[in-house]
Amino acid sequence: MKLGNIDVPTPVVLSPMAGVTNWPFRVLCEQYGPSGLYVAEMITARALVARNPKALRLCRFDPSERVRSLQLYGVNPAIVEQAAKIVVDENMADHVDLNFGCPVPKVTRRGGGSALPWKTDLLQEIISRVVKVCSAANIPVTAKFRVGIDHEHETFLQAGHIAQEEGCAAVTLHARTTAEYYGGHSDWTRIAELKQELDIPVFGNGDIWGADDALAMIDQTGCDGVAIGRGCQGRPWLFADIKHAFEGSTQRINPTLGEVCAVIERHAELLTRFYDGDERMAVHDLRKHVAWYLKGFPVGGSTRKAFMECESLDDVRREIGRLDPNMVFPQRVVDKPRGRVRFAKKVHVPYGWLESRTTTHEERETLFGDDPMDAGY
Ligand SMILES: Cc1cc2nc3c(=O)[nH]c(=O)nc-3n(C[C@H](O)[C@H](O)[C@H](O)COP(=O)(O)O)c2cc1C
Repeated sequence: MKLGNIDVPTPVVLSPMAGVTNWPFRVLCEQYGPSGLYVAEMITARALVARNPKALRLCRFDPSERVRSLQLYGVNPAIVEQAAKIVVDENMADHVDLNFGCPVPKVTRRGGGSALPWKTDLLQEIISRVVKVCSAANIPVTAKFRVGIDHEHETFLQAGHIAQEEGCAAVTLHARTTAEYYGGHSDWTRIAELKQELDIPVFGNGDIWGADDALAMIDQTGCDGVAIGRGCQGRPWLFADIKHAFEGSTQRINPTLGEVCAVIERHAELLTRFYDGDERMAVHDLRKHVAWYLKGFPVGGSTRKAFMECESLDDVRREIGRLDPNMVFPQRVVDKPRGRVRFAKKVHVPYGWLESRTTTHEERETLFGDDPMDAGY
């Protein structure tokens, strides 16, 4: 596959995950995996424009990364455009993805993420402005979205057409609604539906837990590629399995606990570099990953607790040294769901949001009016 002038020899994507897909994790996945796309977690356009140091840190890449893929999130077209301009002017990325899929209440309540495609004018304007800025620098833009807000308010087909017409190089569909959040199942039939509608490549997303799921999704939906999120949490070697599967091999990786610990240690070291040598920040970031890495291993609660209390690389190494390296990988968690798996309690969108498919003047005022940075809009 080609996205603009970027070659994607194997159409496999590490799906952006906030708090997870910073460069240390991407590097681990990419080193196992095929030549695909390994996308950074979403960067809030406003934070990038304000040069928030945390946002800037998330925009960093390791020199080993083949393609620098950034994801931007924003509601105000003028601000997202400014963020895209920064990315282009400062040569921060080779590919820009736009987030229209986030279901988190604090995002949808502001009309962002998966609430946004309901307002077709806003969606169209954001994509068109970002594509204009990025295409001048030959940077392909893609868009990622969900099926809709709920089944009474589906948006994906229209969103796909808008993305295509405004010049996106591809789209990714996470085949759940906002209301479904991470519960139930990604409905792959919707991916097939979108694929039938569009000429640009469609990446299917949702519930790929093992390499065979990736092949099954392509087989069942005809999608052009797959995006993988939670399935690789604590299992970056899933990308090696996927690589093998795409090459027609049935070889799969089942690491021993010792091999998993070597990955944990490397992950901790890379995170320390990511945090400019701050081991404490690194091992705190590592905590959630350790919980995923150890999932299913009968190591006991006290071991898990000890990892959660680590404050330095030495602490991590000490805890690793206490584990039995020969313990085999727990088969009951291989290729099984992991990470978030719940439905939303309630969908939050701005007041009156669902009454019309386009934004009213008042809605725009409320969404962006009170911010001096938005004066140009
Ligand atoms: C912890 C977490 C953080 C996420 N952050 C983002 C994000 O920043 N941008 C985005 O587009 N999707 C985000 N997602 C959604 C995933 O990219 C993916 O679409 C979703 O998890 C479904 O794929 P999966 O079933 O393979 O996990 C996140 C998901 C999780 C679990």
